[in-house]
Amino acid sequence: MLAGRVGDIQPFHVMEVQTAARALEAAGRTVVHMEIGEPDFPTPQPVIDAARAAIAGGDIYYTSALGLPALREAIAGHYADHYGIDVAPERVIVTAGSSAALLLVMALIVNRDERILLADPGYPCNRTFIRLLEGVPVGIPVGADTRYQLTAELIERHWTPMTRGVLIASPANPTGTTIERDEMQRIAASVAALGGRLIVDEIYLGLTYGAPPRSVLEFVDDAFVVSSFSKHFNMTGWRLGWMVAPAHHVRDLEKLAQNLYISPATPSQRAALGCFEPATLEIVEQRRAAFEARRDFLVPALRELGFGVPVMPTGGFFVYADCSRFTDDSDRFCRDVLEGAGVAFTPGMDFGVHRARQHVRFAYTIDQRKLEEGVRRLRDFLS
Ligand SMILES: Cc1ncc(COP(=O)(O)O)c(C=O)c1O
Repeated sequence: MLAGRVGDIQPFHVMEVQTAARALEAAGRTVVHMEIGEPDFPTPQPVIDAARAAIAGGDIYYTSALGLPALREAIAGHYADHYGIDVAPERVIVTAGSSAALLLVMALIVNRDERILLADPGYPCNRTFIRLLEGVPVGIPVGADTRYQLTAELIERHWTPMTRGVLIASPANPTGTTIERDEMQRIAASVAALGGRLIVDEIYLGLTYGAPPRSVLEFVDDAFVVSSFSKHFNMTGWRLGWMVAPAHHVRDLEKLAQNLYISPATPSQRAALGCFEPATLEIVEQRRAAFEARRDFLVPALRELGFGVPVMPTGGFFVYADCSRFTDDSDRFCRDVLEGAGVAFTPGMDFGVHRARQHVRFAYTIDQRKLEEGVRRLRDFLS
């Protein structure tokens, strides 16, 4: 008999869409891939060069569980240079992807049966991290009226004596929406007044369009802020992220990291030192602009086809689209479109239960030409 938690964990439907898409390709069909949340760009060359030099130099030994001091300093320096925020390097914890940072912070704060508030729709693994720790993830339904984000008012309304904290993401997956600065301030004030913990996932902050990105670290120093090299620096497979934690929690997080995975991968950390070189920053800025151009093409095109996109996404590389004009079963719809038109995207049920059957997520992690092909195929299929 297995532990009860295993049965509660949902598979990633997006992976199943991808498997079905690959099977079609193996049978000779072409597929336009808009399912996976992973940039199509390769890791920037200066990062690869830094990794090569580290490996050639034999530097493969464990680091501190908190990460290489030089990298912690470089990340702190990035907050200063890029966002004008003063973050002490001692508060920066390098992690095995932001996934490990999310697990560490949940392990730090969640006891059995304690509740963490999350937006529904939201990034699915967060529910799993909380469940693994015998806590209770509480998905709060959100819609276009709040830009698909939690608000201070929603948090206050759903707070109970068993609630320990709130996890928000800005920009968010799957909706690509950002929490505006005033609302973020209200949220931080509410969570503090309720005596809870605020966790902010900023892994898409470097991929923000329109108004310049603002980190919550501008105005709070007792939040747990999670970030990553995966998306902004095109380093998904290197498995490297970080967290900025309140100073007095660093020691406990260090103990957890030491026991859970000893240290983040050393070659990846050495590679990541190349992220903050001017040449890399220029490359990732060009790619950010490319993502913005793709968004500017895709959102109007989807609207024209009849999908509902009531809030313009302002970050990441996702469009969360209402498909209720075509179906009341988005899972079936995804399978039908994949089979009938060779376009792969993700059903809403990967991200929660609230109106999941009326929504799908498109990822614009393919180039403009392929996006155009995807839209053309969708148009033919839907008409
Ligand atoms: C909102 C969000 N947070 C965290 C992650 C985890 O990413 P990683 O562990 O690669 O940093 C993802 C990955 O898609 C995500 O979309």
